[in-house]
Amino acid sequence: MKILVTGGAGFMGSNFIRYILEKYPEYEIVNLDKLTYAGNLENLRDVEKNPHYTFVKGDIAKAEDVDRAIGEGVDVVINYAAETHVDRSILDPRAFLDTDIYGTYTLLEAVRAGKAGRMVQISTDEVFGMVHDAKEEFAEDTRFDPSSPYSASKAGGDLMCSAYFRTYQTPVIVTHSCNFYGPNQYPEKLIPLFATNLLEGKKIPVYGKGDQFREWIFVSDHCRAIDVILHKGTVGEVYNIGTRQRKSNLEITKSILRQLGQGEDMIEYVTDRPGHDFGYAVNPDKLMRELDWKPEVDFAEGLAQTIDWYKNNEDWWEKIKSGEYRDYFEKNYSRRNELLNLK
Ligand code: NAD
Ligand code: TYD
Repeated sequence: MKILVTGGAGFMGSNFIRYILEKYPEYEIVNLDKLTYAGNLENLRDVEKNPHYTFVKGDIAKAEDVDRAIGEGVDVVINYAAETHVDRSILDPRAFLDTDIYGTYTLLEAVRAGKAGRMVQISTDEVFGMVHDAKEEFAEDTRFDPSSPYSASKAGGDLMCSAYFRTYQTPVIVTHSCNFYGPNQYPEKLIPLFATNLLEGKKIPVYGKGDQFREWIFVSDHCRAIDVILHKGTVGEVYNIGTRQRKSNLEITKSILRQLGQGEDMIEYVTDRPGHDFGYAVNPDKLMRELDWKPEVDFAEGLAQTIDWYKNNEDWWEKIKSGEYRDYFEKNYSRRNELLNLK
């Protein structure tokens, strides 16, 4: 099988490439990545010499870059490429529209033209908005109700996928996953930001009261879900990917503090994110029943492994935190409240 992975230099794309090359050594992988601030070829150092792996620098929103990566054709496109951080989308939505909507459209056009056999769109539970009480869960057919420019852009890309299937029978599968965590996640997201701040002796900014909750999936469980969807999924279908492991931000914050031997005095409660979704809860029964998948990694175990990885890989995140991250946050985040009209 020849697979075009887009966004393969990011957090989950790089973990997926490594997973596939190990499990299916005969498969060919082409990685098309624009190398935005979140793209990091260091994530792929161990596979870059593998003769079954090729890297192409380019933009999924440019048809000529997509054509260059596809070459003579591929069996499947797996679209991990996206702008992914809610807070950045609030400060400046533009790039989200370009990549998450227009980029998805450009890939769909390539599939429609027969240059790829099918496409798997990697998307998020955030397109459904938020759940309002502990009994509610998002089903595959829950109405989209996105809150942030990030989730609205992802919703736009996902809707183009279903429109292409209905209108042109373009073979595409859409997935909606809960929050990922694990090694190589850019230290702007909750778990790696808090772990690395504490390792640097800095405080950790909890938004609002920290009572919001998320559902969490460890990298390896998400890779296994995409593996079964890739091999056994039905085109035109949508699959939720979830674990029912739901934790409030404060529970996670306290677990990270405990693991790093630090006290709650390191928490700094800051002004809440505007439009902050209270909770996400995914119903993954279809994927479990139809494709025989289930999560294997318990949250406490996965979190311990993740924190250990950040402890043992300071080189990886120090470069990021003293480079793009620092420049961006100095420019934008110190002015965050002012930019967002927050008190
Ligand atoms: P990430 O931010 O770590 O990486 C994104 C990658 O996409 C980077 O390598 C970046 O360079 C690349 N990219 C961005 N714009 C591009 C463009 N125009 N052309 C080519 N490459 C481009 O992302 P992640 O956290 O690994 O998320 C991967 C996918 O999973 C995204 O589609 C995201 O919406 C989805 N998702 C993420 C989560 C999560 O918790 N992180 C949860 C559910 C779904
Ligand atoms: P994040 O990792 O940005 O993922 P998402 O918003 O896509 O779920 O945030 C996870 C949760 O943690 C979310 O409720 C916002 C909260 N959060 C903080 O409290 N402080 C922070 O500095 C960050 C980045 C997030």
